[in-house]
Order: sequence, then structure tokens, then C-alpha cells
Amino acid sequence: MGYETIEVRKLTPTIGALVSGVNLGGDLSNRQFDEIHQALLDNLVLFFRDQTMTVEQHKAFGAHFGKLHVHPNAPRAVEGHPEILVIKADETSKRVAGEVWHSDVSCELEPPMGSILHIHQVPENGGGDTMFANMYAAYEALSAPMQHFLAGLTAVHMSLKSANHQYRERGPEQRFPEAEHPVIRTHPETGRKALFVNRGFTARIPQLTAAESDAVLEMLFRHAEQARFHCRFKWEPGSVAFWDNRATMHQAMWDYYPQKRFGYRVTVCGDRPA
Ligand code: SIN
Repeated sequence: MGYETIEVRKLTPTIGALVSGVNLGGDLSNRQFDEIHQALLDNLVLFFRDQTMTVEQHKAFGAHFGKLHVHPNAPRAVEGHPEILVIKADETSKRVAGEVWHSDVSCELEPPMGSILHIHQVPENGGGDTMFANMYAAYEALSAPMQHFLAGLTAVHMSLKSANHQYRERGPEQRFPEAEHPVIRTHPETGRKALFVNRGFTARIPQLTAAESDAVLEMLFRHAEQARFHCRFKWEPGSVAFWDNRATMHQAMWDYYPQKRFGYRVTVCGDRPA
């Protein structure tokens, strides 16, 4: 598909594109949604500058791509909008969301297809970038014998492996999900294979002994965390990133303490990895 209603400029040859010519808070045409969707499949993460969106508009944009996800254990920080996840760090923070490489809530039985983060406030010292990794490329760079070995394996993803115990105060309606997914998943829309393990949530490969599982997972984490698979995005107030959790993982850099960074994330539900 050629793009007629948006402009798409690649950020790196491997992953990421800057999209312009669209106001995400406005009324988008069906063609614009289709082109954004296609650009997401082609580039895995899209970046938009200078966007103004209320939380209602942010949710409406996300809802066009699927049902919105409510985080199982994060605080409900915006009254009346449980689908809004607040991303916030300041001088009182002990940790920040997403500091360890991860695919969002991959511990869900049906992990999200995508996430849309709108950053409102950036640290003044130039910190707070986010890194994204292309997990198709990580899979394709493995040797054929390793791809073959991993093909029949699953991995257990656990909420409690992540830093989410910071959220334990929320109360009885919290969930701490755990799910078993294929180590190599096939993307439901592109049909391409992607490595689907991440340091944030993936705890073990049940078909292997504990020592084997630790060694194989550590090898895969280090492999996918190599910079050759990545892009790095520098946020400005009003920037939006829309990433495909089925074929990427990401890491938020917390290199700006005690300065502030603030934004809202909407997460779009996905399907069971195959
Ligand atoms: C996240 O959604 O994991 C946080 C990303 C970020 O803060 O850049």
C-alpha cells in the first residue's frame, strides 16, 4: 500500500518511522486509519510529533485498533478512565515503568497488540528516551539450528517477575497474571515469525531443566538486546509512539532522576500468541 494521506519517514532501516500529516486527536478518515495500521505493520513502531489529545481522544484513537486493555495491577490514576495508564517519574520515584526490556504485559493470556504512549512532559536534561527492538530481526538473526531448537518450546511469562510489585497497593481487584506462550510466535497479521521472550516478564522454559532454561533465556535476552535490532526515540512534549507488542520489545531509559517525565498510555488488546 502506498501512503496517500500520511507521510512516513523511516527512522532506521530496521525499525521505526516518523509519521506526519495527521492530527491523532481529530477526525481521521478510514483511509488514514488504514494507512497508520499498514505503517505500523511495516515499521513496528510509529512516532508522531506535536500531538494534542485529551484522554478521551487518546482512547478513541486506540479503540479504532481494538478493545482497550485495563492494566491488571497498575493504579487507576485517572478518574473514570481505567484504560489510561499513567507513565510518571519524578524526584520521589523509586523505579519507573518499563526500565527492563519487555513487551507490554506479555504475562497476559492474550497480550496486547499495541500500545500508544503520549508524552506530555519531558525531563529538561535531555533524558527519558525509549528504545525499541525488532523481534522479527532478532529471530531471523538466530542460526537455523537454534531456530529449529526453539520452534517447539514455550515460555512462562509472569507479572510478578516484572517491577510491577510497585503496584501492589491497589487492592483486591488487582491481578498478577501468568501465561505460557510459544518462544517463537507467528504474527497474526503479517505471518512473520518473531522471538517472543523478554527480560521483564519471561521466567522459564518449562520443557528444559532450570539451569538449561536460565542459560537459554539469558542467551536470547542478550541476543535481542543488541543495538543492531533497535531504534531510540527522543521525546518532546506532545510526541506519541504507537508500537506493535507482537513483534517488538522496548525499554524506557531512566537517566534523568530527579527530573520529571509524564504521559499517558493506552493499550490495545491482542490475541493469544500462536
Ligand atoms: C512502557 O510503556 O513500558 C513505558 C515506556 C516509556 O515510558 O517510554
